[in-house]
Amino acid sequence: MSMTEKHKVLERNVTLLAAAALVTVAIGGIVEIAPLFWIDNTIEKVDGMRPYTPLEQAGRDVYVREGCYTCHSQMIRPFRDEVERYGHYSLAAESIYDHPFQWGSKRTGPDLARVGGRYSDEWHVQHMRDPQSVVPESIMPKYSFLADADLETHDASDRLTALRRVGVPYTDTDVENAAADLAAQADPDADAGDLATRYPKAQQRDFDGDPARLTEMDALVAYLQMLGTLVDVNAAAAQEDLAQETGR
Ligand code: HEC
Repeated sequence: MSMTEKHKVLERNVTLLAAAALVTVAIGGIVEIAPLFWIDNTIEKVDGMRPYTPLEQAGRDVYVREGCYTCHSQMIRPFRDEVERYGHYSLAAESIYDHPFQWGSKRTGPDLARVGGRYSDEWHVQHMRDPQSVVPESIMPKYSFLADADLETHDASDRLTALRRVGVPYTDTDVENAAADLAAQADPDADAGDLATRYPKAQQRDFDGDPARLTEMDALVAYLQMLGTLVDVNAAAAQEDLAQETGR
């Protein structure tokens, strides 16, 4: 019996075909899933990652609420064109505290994974108020109302508690101080206590250009300005390569 004839037998017997297909798919499944049971962690820990400060987290909540992810991704793929445009490709560990993650599936606007520090706060505020005033051809909607919306701070602790329940390692101190931390980070004259010790690289200043008020714009700009700034990506990527080579 030739190979094609053997295959004909398989193709004409539904039960046999189904059984053979199941076996084939199962092999693929086992190859992909089984290793996960033997490696300690699917995400390498990298130096510098920390949970969001309450202010950054509040800004992130505004970002999610406003649906920014429908036009912006936060995941730089390891392709040359993307790396040249947006910076080092994203590491899995950089989204470790993201609930829900903001990788996105569509780029009407640019990727924002490393937008932190790329522009001034003033640029962001002006751009959010009226994108076309800084990028004339922009099709991004205006979000000027964020500068007029007082930021809700009474539930800051609850938001951190919710994240802690899904695994973000906020301490009791972080949760208790959430509202105070949040207000202090947006006020350059405030005594922020040990905020910068608990949240390394936290940037403390008035973000929206209106020191008299704490607005949703403050929170959103604080969030945008920290994106991609926590990890020394080149060092972390080298460490990841080494770990793979040495099988650690
Ligand atoms: C309808 C699609 C759309 C939505 C929704 C949208 N944007 Fe944009 N965004 C764009 C486009 C297009 C650009 C590029 C032109 C420009 O800079 O305005 C852009 C640019 C940006 C930039 C500058 C990025 C860079 O590297 O130059 C930032 C920051 C930004 N958007 C933030 C946001 C935030 C925050 C939200 C939600 C509050 C948001 N966008 C919602 C389309 C969108």
